[in-house]
Amino acid sequence: MKRLAVIILAAGQGTRMRSKLAKVLHPVGGRPMVLYAVELAQALTKGGKGNVAVVTGHQAEKLKEVIAGYDVASVVQTRRLGTGHAVVQAQSVFQNGDEWRKRRFVILSGDTPLLTEATLRDMLAYHDRERATVTVLTAHLDRPAGYGRIVRGREGFIWRIIEDRDATPSERRISEINAGSYIVEGDFLFPALSQVKPSNAQKEYYLPGIVSVAVGQGKRVAAYPAPDRVEALGINTRQELAEAERLMRARIRARLMAEGVTFLAPETSFVDAEVRIGRDSVIHPHTTIEGWTRIGEDCVIRSHSRIAESVLSDQVTILDACVIEGARLEEGTVIGPFARLRPGTVIRRAAKVGNFVEIKKTELGIGAKANHLSYLGDAQIGKRVNVGAGTITCNYDGVNKYQTVIADDVFIGSDVSFVAPVKVGKGAVIGAGSVVTEDVPADALVLGRSRQVIKPEWAKERREKMGKIKH
Ligand code: UD1
Ligand code: CA
Repeated sequence: MKRLAVIILAAGQGTRMRSKLAKVLHPVGGRPMVLYAVELAQALTKGGKGNVAVVTGHQAEKLKEVIAGYDVASVVQTRRLGTGHAVVQAQSVFQNGDEWRKRRFVILSGDTPLLTEATLRDMLAYHDRERATVTVLTAHLDRPAGYGRIVRGREGFIWRIIEDRDATPSERRISEINAGSYIVEGDFLFPALSQVKPSNAQKEYYLPGIVSVAVGQGKRVAAYPAPDRVEALGINTRQELAEAERLMRARIRARLMAEGVTFLAPETSFVDAEVRIGRDSVIHPHTTIEGWTRIGEDCVIRSHSRIAESVLSDQVTILDACVIEGARLEEGTVIGPFARLRPGTVIRRAAKVGNFVEIKKTELGIGAKANHLSYLGDAQIGKRVNVGAGTITCNYDGVNKYQTVIADDVFIGSDVSFVAPVKVGKGAVIGAGSVVTEDVPADALVLGRSRQVIKPEWAKERREKMGKIKH
């Protein structure tokens, strides 16, 4: 079998999106939609810069950044003269000793993120069985408007593909559409593209034009119907983006459920494509899990919580309405309700974070507790430390940020302020209401507050005095 090469078309602006952002960079399932095509290409070819070419153009630099982590080549289509013209730009990647003649090309659009690897593999097998020169992925749609239509001759053979704007009213009634993915023999592809003319409403070089060229040369053109028509969904408008988003989210949840995750109300939970969740974890209604977040086994995520770019070990409980970003939570930790964990937070085994606690760039030691109304920033907090209600680290002097270091087994009373930089030794006790400005030795008691004053009868006398002057 000929070696596969993949070309991904991603140079267009996506005018119909009416966006400042290039269409293929709009996220679907929490990642730029073009990455779905890039990952398919990698799966089919096992990667390699000589095997995959991404055609960039509009916002090429941004797109290159997005695909930088992948082993694929990119070429720039400086002038957007159509999908056929875009494919021609990619030829240079396969130029080496006319390499392109020996290859079989899979051509994908950057705007059809629901296409699956299984379908592409079946399509490749079909292309082989049919001994086709060109195979087009197709679908039958109830509302085919906007797509190129598959025009067949009397015997049912494919004759050509006509774009919606160039179609006659009767052609517009054809429900079989071009899904924009193709398999083409290399020795045919590039010579054929040089014969495609921009004689259409848009004055562009259309890739589907190669179908008529193949037919003219007596070559076999096959149509492979997508097993599920959603795979053909191409995103041109925000409506289609929303539809793809809905379908992708459902697909992600279905995969996670198959892997052993419980969703109490699946359609209200939004999980990004790259998230991984372990078995027997339970996801409550109205939850959002984003980015590359990893969640272990037997975790519980309660309602209205959002978790982004975080790692949760096994048996972690996130109670209601928490916002967790860039945090690492070890086994058995319990967070919330109403907690906010910001980047750089590390919560060690079995530690607890409670109501209205904000934590940033802070490590909370094994078994430690910060249960109520605190701000802990730039702090190192030891094992079993009790952080009293209302404790604050004063980490910022208006210019710089400073560290608070609290050793193991410290007991912090309520409403304590640590004016950083400051260190507290092991086992110390900090009296409630203290403002701690100096380092505290191990096992000491600190009282950093003014002494209580009691004036007997003062209140009563005041009441009587006020009563006399009342108008
Ligand atoms: C295209 C097909 C249409 C098919 C539909 C399926 C053509 C002419 N038409 O139409 O038959 O039904 O896809 O979704 O191919 N691009 C470039 N350079 C260009 C133009 C486009 O790289 O000069 C890229 C775009 O970024 C996009 C892809 O090619 O990722 C498809 O372009 P788009 O404009 O979306 O084509 P459609 O009008 O949807
Ligand atoms: Ca499109």
